[in-house]
Amino acid sequence: MRKKRVLVVTGGGDCPGLNAVIRGIVKRAHRERNWSVIGSIEAFDGVLREPMELVNLTLTRTAGIHVKGGTIIRTTNKGGPFKWPVKDKDGNWISVDRSDDLLMKLQYNNIDSVISIGGDGSQRISQQLFEKGCPIIGVPKTIDNDLMATDFTFGFLTAVDIASDAVDKLVSTAESHNRTMILEVMGRDAGWIAIYAAIAGGAEICLIPEIPYDIDILVETIRQRYQHGRTFCNIVIAEGATSTEGEQTYTESDEVGYENKKLGGAGMRLMEELKQHGLEVDMRVSILGHLQRGGTPCAFDRVLATQFGVKAFELVLEEKWGHMVAYRHPDIVAVQLQEAIEALNYVKPDSNIIATARGVGMCLGDKLITTY
Ligand code: F6P
Repeated sequence: MRKKRVLVVTGGGDCPGLNAVIRGIVKRAHRERNWSVIGSIEAFDGVLREPMELVNLTLTRTAGIHVKGGTIIRTTNKGGPFKWPVKDKDGNWISVDRSDDLLMKLQYNNIDSVISIGGDGSQRISQQLFEKGCPIIGVPKTIDNDLMATDFTFGFLTAVDIASDAVDKLVSTAESHNRTMILEVMGRDAGWIAIYAAIAGGAEICLIPEIPYDIDILVETIRQRYQHGRTFCNIVIAEGATSTEGEQTYTESDEVGYENKKLGGAGMRLMEELKQHGLEVDMRVSILGHLQRGGTPCAFDRVLATQFGVKAFELVLEEKWGHMVAYRHPDIVAVQLQEAIEALNYVKPDSNIIATARGVGMCLGDKLITTY
């Protein structure tokens, strides 16, 4: 009897912990003896390319990878089976739906099931494939922590560790030079990384997309702080944050098949706004960027990723197609993909994390802070 085959794909932006999920799947599958695990290189592209790019994910190949950042089967956040980029007769890039092609290739290659590890975009693809009959299980990932169905996504706390370490470093140089330091962190439209890093690092100001900031309130808060002898200030700003009147700072990408806005520049924009509104202190901006996505996952993320990997394979055994694994403390559960992609998880202005930030006197850009 032939061994059953599960295909594993990693899609979207990479994230610390992806390799730990892959290893968890492989180790759990190995215990069943009649299963083999195949990886597709760069999400579903490995199946759709000719020749196909598939790898056997064996115990040997995946040994020790849980500590390694990135993904050994690589990833992409461009195109995908429903929007495969091709050139038309005039040489312009258009996208075509290759999902039928994908399903046929999976069948011809004796792929019995698929585990798709990815963020909201990838899980939308999983749901579409499920609706076309694909036996698929989702595993949520993103440093942004913006997926609704799960308490946390792996990668998030590693990114927070990196960002709060950056705040720690900026505090000492801010203090030495009487400067206001602005640190821009990732998170897309969610302020999770920013608010966690700001609280962990003890920043004085944190600006997140969910709470638009008033520039005059910020200027006055910083001015009064300096007047009271606290001659430095640390600001964490999420890349998606805006002022009450402004818009996000981003560039359109010219990369083929890349549909996301490239957020970035909120920190520089904020510095200019503060200057224009009369703040006369020395300021510097640091952009943490992709440093937040690289390197070894923290212990919590390795554990969560391993739990997700093991559970995902168990859902394959149970044939719970169209479900995604999720963390609902203290359990790892299965939720319907449809439910998981319905909405994104943003920081709620009336949540405890925001109350905590306000409780320690952090300015969130909407209210003047006059305690130092
Ligand atoms: O979604 C993860 C994330 O790192 C966001 O925080 C960020 O805006 C985006 O991806 C960056 O994407 P890319 O790697 O394509 O520049």
